[in-house]
Amino acid sequence: MSEKIFIGVAWPYANGSLHLGQIAGAYLPPDIFARYHRTKGNEVLMVSGSDQHGTPITLKAEQEGKKPSEIAARYHREFLECWQKFGISFDLFTTTGTANHAQVTQDIFLTLLNRGYIYKDTVSQPFCPKCQRYLADRYIEGLCPYCHSPGARGDQCEACGKPLSPAELIEPQCRICGTTPVFQDTEHFFLKLTAFNERLHAWVKQQTHWRPNVLNFTLRYLEEGLKDRAITRDIDWGVPVPISGFEDKRIYVWFEAVIGYLSAAKEWAKSSGDEERWRAFWQNNEAKSYYFIGKDNIPFHTLIWPAMLMGYGDNLNLPYDVPANEFLTIEGRKLSTSHNWAVWLLDYLSRYEPDPLRYLLSINMPETADTDFSWREFVRRNNDELVATYGNLVHRVLTFVYRNFEGAVPTPGELDPQDQAILNAAQDTLKTVDQLLYGCHFREAIRAAMSLAQEANRYLDEKSPWKMIKENREAAANSLYTTLCVIANLKTMLYPFLPFSSQKLHQLLGFKGKVEDYGWQPQRLPPGQKLLPPEPLFSKLDDSLIEEETRRLGQAPG
Ligand code: MF3
Ligand code: ZN
Repeated sequence: MSEKIFIGVAWPYANGSLHLGQIAGAYLPPDIFARYHRTKGNEVLMVSGSDQHGTPITLKAEQEGKKPSEIAARYHREFLECWQKFGISFDLFTTTGTANHAQVTQDIFLTLLNRGYIYKDTVSQPFCPKCQRYLADRYIEGLCPYCHSPGARGDQCEACGKPLSPAELIEPQCRICGTTPVFQDTEHFFLKLTAFNERLHAWVKQQTHWRPNVLNFTLRYLEEGLKDRAITRDIDWGVPVPISGFEDKRIYVWFEAVIGYLSAAKEWAKSSGDEERWRAFWQNNEAKSYYFIGKDNIPFHTLIWPAMLMGYGDNLNLPYDVPANEFLTIEGRKLSTSHNWAVWLLDYLSRYEPDPLRYLLSINMPETADTDFSWREFVRRNNDELVATYGNLVHRVLTFVYRNFEGAVPTPGELDPQDQAILNAAQDTLKTVDQLLYGCHFREAIRAAMSLAQEANRYLDEKSPWKMIKENREAAANSLYTTLCVIANLKTMLYPFLPFSSQKLHQLLGFKGKVEDYGWQPQRLPPGQKLLPPEPLFSKLDDSLIEEETRRLGQAPG
C-alpha cells in the first residue's frame, strides 16, 4: 500500500535572497525526503510559498522606497528560479498573497472566534511619538526578557528563539528612529493559547520519534506555559481581519503563514482538477505530515500551529514530525545577512553545478548540531569524494565497458563469491539508506551510500578487469557487469541527494525515463542494454577558488 506523505516547508519571507543557511536548514532536506518517497512509490504533496506579509516585507519596502507588493513579487520570482536551478521539487510553491489563502485564513479565524479560541481585548501597544505610528513586531527592538540578548524584536528573540510580544521587551526602541515608544490602548484579537496547554502537553509527550532538540525545546517551552498571543496588528499590509471596525488592521503574519500549509494544499487540489484531493493528505489517519523548518521556527510548528488545528477541528492532521535543523555557520562564523557573511544560492549557481553543493550540505547537514560550511571543504569533498570516489568508479567502468564490449552491458557468466558479496552489499545498503531516509537521518543515509561506492572501488581494484581481459574475457565481463549493477543501485540511493547526476547516470547506463520510475528496489541491468557514450558525472574544482570565494565573504555584494 502506498503511503500519503504531506511535506510542509517553511515559507521564506519574500524580502531577501536565499542563502545556504536556509537551504541546508529547511529546503534541501524536504526535497531529499520527497524524492525518496516518490521513488518508493508513495504519494507526496510538498508545498510552500513566499511569506509576503508582515513587517519583514514592509520594512524592506520602506528601506528601498518600493511598494511591499513589488518587493514580494521580485523575491517570489527569484525563489522560483532557485528551486528550478537547484532542483527543489515542490508540487506547489505559491504565495500568501492569493485570494484562496486569504479565504482559508479568514475561515480559520472566524471558526476559532466562534469557538471561543479567539477573543477581542484592549491592549496597550507601543507607539512611536516621533514616527507617529504603532510599532508592530520588527519595528520595535529591545533586550530579550528571557535571555537578555540585545536586538530582540517585538515578535521573537532570534538568540533564544522564544516568541515575544512588544510589552515584554526590556528597554524598547523604535527600529526606525531609536525613540523610546509610548504605550497606547488599541483593540486586538488574541489567540487563546492558554486553553491548549494541557492538550498540547499530552500530545507532545507522545512524540518520542521527534528529534531530541525539537522535543526538548518544545517541552521546555511548554513547561513555562503558553500565553495568549495577539494575532492582529496595526499595519495595512496583510490578510484583512474579517470583522467590521478592524478595517485598518491586519491578521498577524505568523498566524496566517502557517495556515499556508492548508491553503496551499487546497490550491494544489483545485489546480489538479479535483478540488477534494487535499483531504487525502489532511483528513486521513493514514497520511503523515512532515514540517521542514529551521530551528528558529520550532514553537510555531510544534505548538502554535497544532493549537490552531486542535481548535479548528474538522479532523485535520496534526504534524507527525517536525525535523527542524540547527544552523549552518560559514567559515566558522555565525551567518549574518546584514554583514554579507553568507553564501547566496543564486550566486553559487551562477558559477557551479547544483549537485556538489547538495552533496556537501547533505553529508554535513546540521541535523543534530550546528555544522560549518567552508569553501575548502566544498572543494575537498567535491574532488576527493564526488570526483575521486563516486565519479571515478562510474567513469572508469563505463569507459572501459563502452570500448571493450561494443557499448553495451556485458553478458556475465557464473558469478564468484566476491561478485556476490558486493552485489549483496549493494542490496543491503539500499535497505539501510531506505530506513535512514524514512526516519529523516539524511547525513547518515548519504554516508552509507558513499561507503558502498568506496567498497565498490576496492572490489574493482582487486578484480582489475583491465588486466584480466587479456587472459580471461568472461571473468572480466563478470566483474564489470557486477560493478555496473552496483552503480545502478548507487544512482537510485543517491538520487534524492544528487538528482541531476543520478538522472544523467541513469541515461548513461541506457535506462529510459526517470530514475524515480524504476522504484526503490534492487536495480537490474539487462545484459546487452546499450550504453550512451560515457561522460564524466562531476568535474574537479581548482583550489584557487577557495581564496577567491572566501574573499567575497563580508564584502558588499556587487
Ligand atoms: N517566513 C518565516 C521565516 O522565514 C517562516 C514561516 S514558516 C510558516 O522565518 F510557518 F509560516 F509557514
Ligand atoms: Zn520612531
